[in-house]
Amino acid sequence: MQGFDTYRDLEAKQQPVWNDEKTLNGVLSQLSTQPPLVFAGEADVLKSRLAAAARGEAFLLQGGDCAETFEAATADKIRDRVKTLLQMAVVLTYGASMPVIKVGRMAGQFAKPRSSDTETRDGVTLPAYRGDLVNGYDFTEESRTPNPERLLQGYHVSASTLNLIRAFTQGGFADLRLVHDWNKGFISNPVNQRYEALAAEIDRAVRFMMACGVDFGALERTEFFVSHEALLLEYERQLTRTDSRTGDIYDTSAHMLWIGERTRDINGAHVEFLSKVKNPIGVKLGPTTKLDDALRLIDKLDPEREPGRLTFITRMGAGKIRDVLPGLLEGVRDAGALPLWVTDPMHGNGITTPNGFKTRRFDEIMDELKGFFEAHREVGTYPGGMHVELTGDDVTECLGGAENIDELALEARYESVCDPRLNHRQSLELAFQVAEELKRRH
Ligand code: PEP
Ligand code: CO
Repeated sequence: MQGFDTYRDLEAKQQPVWNDEKTLNGVLSQLSTQPPLVFAGEADVLKSRLAAAARGEAFLLQGGDCAETFEAATADKIRDRVKTLLQMAVVLTYGASMPVIKVGRMAGQFAKPRSSDTETRDGVTLPAYRGDLVNGYDFTEESRTPNPERLLQGYHVSASTLNLIRAFTQGGFADLRLVHDWNKGFISNPVNQRYEALAAEIDRAVRFMMACGVDFGALERTEFFVSHEALLLEYERQLTRTDSRTGDIYDTSAHMLWIGERTRDINGAHVEFLSKVKNPIGVKLGPTTKLDDALRLIDKLDPEREPGRLTFITRMGAGKIRDVLPGLLEGVRDAGALPLWVTDPMHGNGITTPNGFKTRRFDEIMDELKGFFEAHREVGTYPGGMHVELTGDDVTECLGGAENIDELALEARYESVCDPRLNHRQSLELAFQVAEELKRRH
């Protein structure tokens, strides 16, 4: 067994029961010969960007679907998610006068932890949906049975999604001179109009600089990274490669991987596996996190205290963040560590409406974001980024926002197969409000 396979001796939570061992082994061996999706050097670049954010010199914007699906990996939907993130990044950059690091929850966010192994509808009990990498969302026995072939399909969908993202962000589409165009195709509304006004200001500044002879070559491309929860360890393991430059080991399924709230057990397989790869790593921290948990995670995942290596993504809930976060920030700082602190204002604020929708209130999401900035102001640490579930589509999944989506409206366009996402307009609105918070940092 290789040094980085020690995770196989430990308990791995949230893994599917595949049953079909033969097919599984065939698929895993095929995966192990596929080309890497990302390069080690790219993961290193992201790490250096995240190190700047941890020092308070940049801000991380990480966002995308709760669960991507194979079916929704279409050119239009991928483009609109990329456009939404680019627009949010412009709003944040302009507001905060600070570089914004763009990381999609994209091109691999296909596996989900579940609170129950099964789901029962009208007296019928079937395996829970664990993400397209494992089984189908349709509530039939055939679809819900974990199918190892999906691992290979997931790899290919990730590859084609990433290819399109690379084309969009490197091929001229993300050129800052097209800042107006990113707003096209979305239904006009006050938030879009606010964006238009900002885009016009940027346009003027760019034209002025061009008239002064500044070379805008650098603006034609933008850096864009991808990330997902490293949940299915055997999938991640097969995409783990040795970097020919350095001999170091990288998980080449994404630039950044994170460990979820349910799998961050310090003695568990997920923490062990990710402790062995060199990528930048995130860990979700929920409201029950003790300082000792955070310190042990730092020692295990970042023993060298390498800048940009470790990101803590806190998801406390709007009602708890102001009580829980300051103590963690203080204790970690006093221990001499400098992880990047990012807020996930989504996962601590879930509710179910009387008409049966899993949703979140825009105001509570915003409240947790504000609590995050307050906690950092109180302790004197850096609020380094945000992690959000969003889509470029015009869905109705989260309550509130400027268009004031109410419980009844959730019935109109609720399309998520997992958690509710901010729609395009709510995402922009959030960015404008966070930009105000970032301005107060200076
Ligand atoms: C998620 O990010 O979709 C998720 C499941 O989060 P958490 O692990 O924080 O619950
Ligand atoms: Co989610």
